[in-house]
Amino acid sequence: MQPNNINEIISARRSIYPREFTGTVLDEHVISTLLHNANQAPNHHSNYPWRFVVITGDKLAEWLQKAAEIYRTETLPEKFRQEKLDKITGNIGRISHAIAIVMHRDENAKTVETEDICAIACGVQNMYLSLHQFEHAGGYWSTGLGTYSPAMKSYLGLEDGEKLMGYFILGHVDVKRTEGHKKDFRKFTRYL
Ligand SMILES: Cc1cc2nc3c(=O)[nH]c(=O)nc-3n(C[C@H](O)[C@H](O)[C@H](O)COP(=O)(O)O)c2cc1C
Repeated sequence: MQPNNINEIISARRSIYPREFTGTVLDEHVISTLLHNANQAPNHHSNYPWRFVVITGDKLAEWLQKAAEIYRTETLPEKFRQEKLDKITGNIGRISHAIAIVMHRDENAKTVETEDICAIACGVQNMYLSLHQFEHAGGYWSTGLGTYSPAMKSYLGLEDGEKLMGYFILGHVDVKRTEGHKKDFRKFTRYL
């Protein structure tokens, strides 16, 4: 039984990872619902600072191979781990869709960059919370897989003024994890 109270939905939201995915492809309705809801997020001057690039089907293997190549060629030798490289290509056949999250800033933007980053994060949280309604769909925000590499920016066809903010990685799960171990908010809050 899924909780249906907003507080419970927020508390039950979890990042669900590719190692938990079954490999079954999600219905496009799941993806369009998430994108619709991301687009409802608050954004300063209503400037819609987000762009999304959906990666699915045959493109998934190509994209993961590109991420693996970037890891292999751009990681310092002392930081390189073969298991990490194998993990990237091991995601082929597990991930259903990856949504590249892109920040788009106009040359004459009225907003400051921080505001656009915040707006995009609000949109990503909308995607996370939207997953609640789909019993077998899970996902998480990843800033791995070549997020900060110019080679990935070029592979995804981003423009000069655009920046890759990571991906929302999605897959089918049999049973969705919901338990969390969050610290008490009072630890991070004070009244002036
Ligand atoms: C901006 C951002 C980037 C993240 N990047 C990664 C990532 O690259 N790899 C990963 O495993 N998790 C990533 N996460 C997910 C966090 O690890 C996750 O939110 C955290 O472990 C708490 O788990 P929960 O989301 O289930 O509460 C990212 C989360 C955020 C907000």
